[in-house]
Formats: sequence, structure tokens, C-alpha cells
Amino acid sequence: MRSLLVTGGAKGIGRAIAELASAQGYFVGVVDTDQEAANTVAASLNSAKAYAANVCEADQVASVVADFCKDAGGLDVVVNNAGILRTGPLIDHDPADFRLVVDVNLNGVFVVAQAAARKMREAGQGVILNLSSINGTHPSPNCGAYAAAKGGVVALTQQMSLEWGAMGIRVNAIAPGFVDGGMSSPFYADPNVRNRRASAVPLGRLGTLEDIAQTVLFLASKQASYITGQTLTVDGGVVNSVLLQLPRE
Ligand SMILES: NC(=O)c1ccc[n+]([C@@H]2O[C@H](COP(=O)([O-])OP(=O)(O)OC[C@H]3O[C@@H](n4cnc5c(N)ncnc54)[C@H](O)[C@@H]3O)[C@@H](O)[C@H]2O)c1
Repeated sequence: MRSLLVTGGAKGIGRAIAELASAQGYFVGVVDTDQEAANTVAASLNSAKAYAANVCEADQVASVVADFCKDAGGLDVVVNNAGILRTGPLIDHDPADFRLVVDVNLNGVFVVAQAAARKMREAGQGVILNLSSINGTHPSPNCGAYAAAKGGVVALTQQMSLEWGAMGIRVNAIAPGFVDGGMSSPFYADPNVRNRRASAVPLGRLGTLEDIAQTVLFLASKQASYITGQTLTVDGGVVNSVLLQLPRE
């Protein structure tokens, strides 16, 4: 049985990844700071276990990775999904808040990926998948800290793929666009925002949690065995659509 560990697996996209991985026959580890919610998700799946850890804390992460390897008999796939969003204009952004966003969204990816890669190196194989965002390559108003961290995830993914390819480890990132769920739920609760955003997407709709989970599971699969160092944008075409908004003649 292949095994997959997902951080931030208690809610939103992480939960959808845990559910799809379980449906595809993986033993799933659900890591989260919200232990109760992680327990609920794990209890609802076939072969799964919940683990409490903050991705920024290297000691907690090392012990979760060690426990998971014992429980699952190894670590095939790790998904760095845990993330937070704090919005506001950079001119007023509290530096402590900026640091927190970078800590969870970027440093947390490094801490978990490093602990996982040390185990994967022993096995000579593994897959690491990092959740970035279209904000990592396309700035948007009030998302400065988040955009900086998510851009860092793209660069870190490329760097890890370079350093760890010879160990048999593939590393890729996923850049979701407008996702109808998870941390964006409060935003899309406003029907005006929903409609304006959905109609700006060339495919004509917001993304679903499952759209992102399916991409993650594809990149984890043997079908993606020659793909590494890439960031796959999953946005219904929205970041390519700027010229669609402008008249040609
Ligand atoms: N939802 C979107 O619109 C969207 C779009 C692009 C990218 N993303 C990215 O997808 C990922 C998942 O987002 P989501 O929308 O499901 O978010 P969410 O807020 O619904 O869930 C995030 C989960 O991460 C956990 N978490 C937060 N900090 C943690 C930490 N330090 N250690 C361990 N767990 C922690 C939370 O408890 C929560 O369960 C994030 O990296 C996010 O940046 C989301």
C-alpha cells in the first residue's frame, strides 16, 4: 500500500487531498495544528491516521515523519498543503504578521520537505508536492506577504528538484487559481464576488477542492514519473486571460 502524508489535511484542499488519496488506496497521514479536526478526517477514511504538528516546528515535524513511517511502513508522497492567508497593503503590513505568513507558507514547506526527503533518500524514491498559488507568480491587491511566500515555494520547488532528483525524489508545485472553498470560502460567500470572478475565468467557473486534489494525485502518480521541478497552474485559464479583457480593434 502506498502512503501519503498531507499537512493541513484537516480542512479545505488538504481534506480533499486526504479523501481522494484514501479512495485511491493510499494509507493517509493527516497532519494539522487542529488535532480534533484532523482526528475527524482520519476517522472518516479507510486507512488513515491523524498527527498533530505545526509545520514550522522542526522537532514536531521530525517526530511525525518518524511515526508515520512506522505506521505506514514508509513515506511515498508528502503534500505540503498547510498554509495561511493574511491580507493587507504592504505599506501598513505588520512585520510580525508578514514573518508569520512566510514562516507557515514557505519555511514550513522547507521543514517538512527536508524531514521527508531524509526518509525518501533511504528508500531511493519519493514524491514531494508543494501548494503554491497563482499569487506566487501574479501579484494581486493586499496579498503581498502571501505572494512573496508562494513565489518562494516555486523557487524552492525548483531547487529541491535539482538537489534531490538523483536520490529518486520528484518535487513539483501546484498553483491553484480561484478556488471555491478552504481559506477562500468567506470571500466567495458574497454572490457579487463569486459571479464577477467566475465570469472572468475562461472555463467559466471557480475551481473546486476536487480540481486541486485530482492534480495533486496525478503528480503523485506513476503517470507523472518524468515530471519534476514544475509548477502546474490549475486556474481554468485565468492567469492567461488578461488580453481577453481588452478590445482588439
Ligand atoms: N483556497 C484557495 O482559494 C487557495 C488558492 C490557492 C492556493 N491555496 C493554498 O492551498 C493550501 C490549502 O488551502 P485551504 O484553502 O485548504 O486552507 P484552509 O484554511 O481551509 O486549510 C488550511 C489547513 O492548514 C492548517 N494549518 C495552518 N497552519 C498550520 C501549521 N502551521 N501547521 C500545520 N497545519 C496548519 C489549518 O489548521 C487548516 O486545517 C494553502 O497552502 C493555500 O495557500 C488555496
